[in-house]
Amino acid sequence: MLKIIIVAGARPNFMKVAPIVAAMKRRRDQFQTLLVHTGQHYGEAMSSAFFRDLDLPGPDVYLGVGSASHAQQTAAIMQAFEPVVIQEKPDWVIVVGDVNSTLACALVSVQLGIKVAHVEAGLRSRDRTMPEEINRLLTDQIAELLLTPSADANQNLRAEGIPPERIKLVGNVMIDSLLGQLDRAKQSTARAALGLTEKEYAVLTLHRPSNVDDTTAFRRIIDALEEIALRLPIVFPAHPRTRKMIAELGLTERVEKIKGLLVIAPVGYLDFLQLLMGARLVLTDSGGIQEESTVLGIPCITLRGNTERPLTVEIGTNTIAGTTSAQIVKAALDVIDNPPGTSAPRLPPLWDGHTADRILNALIQRNESPSQTLSACSAVRSVSALPRAKRYAGCASRSNDAESAPDLPSSIEGRPGCEKSLRVSLRQSCWNIFVRGRRPNSFPASRPEHSKQRPCSKIFFLTRPRN
Ligand code: UD1
Ligand code: UDP
Repeated sequence: MLKIIIVAGARPNFMKVAPIVAAMKRRRDQFQTLLVHTGQHYGEAMSSAFFRDLDLPGPDVYLGVGSASHAQQTAAIMQAFEPVVIQEKPDWVIVVGDVNSTLACALVSVQLGIKVAHVEAGLRSRDRTMPEEINRLLTDQIAELLLTPSADANQNLRAEGIPPERIKLVGNVMIDSLLGQLDRAKQSTARAALGLTEKEYAVLTLHRPSNVDDTTAFRRIIDALEEIALRLPIVFPAHPRTRKMIAELGLTERVEKIKGLLVIAPVGYLDFLQLLMGARLVLTDSGGIQEESTVLGIPCITLRGNTERPLTVEIGTNTIAGTTSAQIVKAALDVIDNPPGTSAPRLPPLWDGHTADRILNALIQRNESPSQTLSACSAVRSVSALPRAKRYAGCASRSNDAESAPDLPSSIEGRPGCEKSLRVSLRQSCWNIFVRGRRPNSFPASRPEHSKQRPCSKIFFLTRPRN
């Protein structure tokens, strides 16, 4: 049984954790689950609605951190999360996506010796002015298991020197939620309530700081919207950051004057999916909506100069339009004037609704794997080369030889329970290697107290030598 803390903080996290929580509940003989909500997003429109729409049970722990600057928010999440991890002592912490909650909780966990699995690992926009890019890069550096949505993410991680055994391609868990909730989304009354007709409107979402916190950038987008709305009504569930910036930048009057632009509050997941699946096109700077529109076959105009989700462009419906008004208008009018055919959308491999179970399988597999620290592995391999019955003896005889493995690492990954033992033995100049997993029956149990019994400088405890 693995004890798991799974973390959600902001809107796009809820649709990523929901299928994993549901899968862990189905597999309750293997997983004990604790859902922690940091409260990065809060209130009905940005949080509660998603628990209902996604059948997500309420959080076991709510940290209630709220909004603040990056540093203050990240620090507040870390401070609030640390005592939870210390008290609960999970085997793993699962973090998803790229928001401040993702990095904050990953960092707390690894510092406490708890292994982290990062869902949606390996995405890279290569734009380090995006706060999310920094969160992704850092989380991937410290996570033990990197669960990727697509092969390009694996390539990014390999290029950053992450060993292959820490990377597992599992598919896109957000699409588990999408496919699982599609029928319910079809029943939503959102479109009718707004008086919209299928395929005769566009959906708009905007919230990237680069688009909405900067007055020049935001004005360029508004210029484009004025033109596009002359051809097609646009429904705009405005993110709270965006609504705040419209007011702060003095843009309220201009936005209100755009005939055909319907600004509404953010909507729940089922309502949003219904609006999206009935739209002629979507204009967005959201990461998740690039993926959802690909699966639904809705043309997506991304109001950015890059994407961390290149597959949505290569085989999906996404166009990276850029951020000048001329580029945005051209991309939108291209779709309006040349509506795509009705052929079924092409889906990236493993975006199939079964990612959550693959995530859990990967977690179990990694949990049973030997520690992957390079020099630890070479020590383990040399012992494993001995005949099975002699392996433990092999360890013991090497254990008296201080020089036999001069390049053993000074820190070795291990179960949280092993951490203390490792530190103690380092002070005594003993290095214990705990290789996680089942112990072969023929092996004597490895006991930390051996380090007291044996007056040797280095002791290897191998609970499962590599075959
Ligand atoms: C955050 C994520 C971003 C993600 C987005 C999804 C980071 C760095 N950014 O951006 O990656 O794409 O969520 O929506 O983690 N606010 C409210 N109510 C809320 C939440 C926020 O009113 O429930 C307002 C506050 O004024 C706040 C502002 O929105 O200051 C921005 O919120 P914040 O969580 O800092 O960043 P997002 O722009 O939401
Ligand atoms: N979404 C929603 N209501 C809205 C806008 C978006 O339910 O009013 C959903 C959308 O379907 C997707 C997720 O929110 O599942 C994307 O979140 P967001 O754009 O906030 O974050 P990003 O994906 O850019 O990190």
